[in-house]
Amino acid sequence: MTVTVELPCPADTEELGRVLGTRLLAGDLVVLAGPLGAGKTVLARGIGDGLGVRGPVTSPTFVIAREHAPGPRGVPLLHVDAYRIGGLDELDDLDLDTDLLDAAVVVEWGQGLAERLAEEHLLVRLTRRDDDVRLAELTGPPRLLPPRGP
Ligand SMILES: Nc1ncnc2c1ncn2[C@@H]1O[C@H](COP(=O)(O)OP(=O)(O)OP(=O)(O)O)[C@@H](O)[C@H]1O
Ligand SMILES: [Mg+2]
Repeated sequence: MTVTVELPCPADTEELGRVLGTRLLAGDLVVLAGPLGAGKTVLARGIGDGLGVRGPVTSPTFVIAREHAPGPRGVPLLHVDAYRIGGLDELDDLDLDTDLLDAAVVVEWGQGLAERLAEEHLLVRLTRRDDDVRLAELTGPPRLLPPRGP
């Protein structure tokens, strides 16, 4: 199932992330796709807020993966930036499948790589329109999709 959402400003992207984050459970995988500056980290920040995890969700570019301790909902967030990951071997080295047992995992630049970590996942493809409005195309099982379309 695919849903498309228009995101005129960063606050809209963060709010979409918040909606997604409130629905995530440990073991859920979210793959974020889209070009540089598309808004993947902004979305991940909203997801962290929806999950209620600790610590600010910022670009993990130089650490590859950052774990955020759980808040009241008890679900930690593992935020991964796969931009520099060369292939499946390097991904396997991160042992993300182990982390997926007890955390929600969000992978920027994960398309074509991270899907294999879980049986099902939510894919969010962010694109930037000429007028700078972002479009989010969400594909995944209905329980992970936002409850209302545009
Ligand atoms: N509607 C929007 N949604 C999200 N970000 C927006 C929007 N409009 C403008 N922006 C700006 O675009 C930038 C998006 O940056 P962000 O770091 O989230 O992108 P990214 O996809 O994670 O990039 P990278 O591939 O470098 O990790 C921010 O500076 C943000 O303020
Ligand atoms: Mg980013």
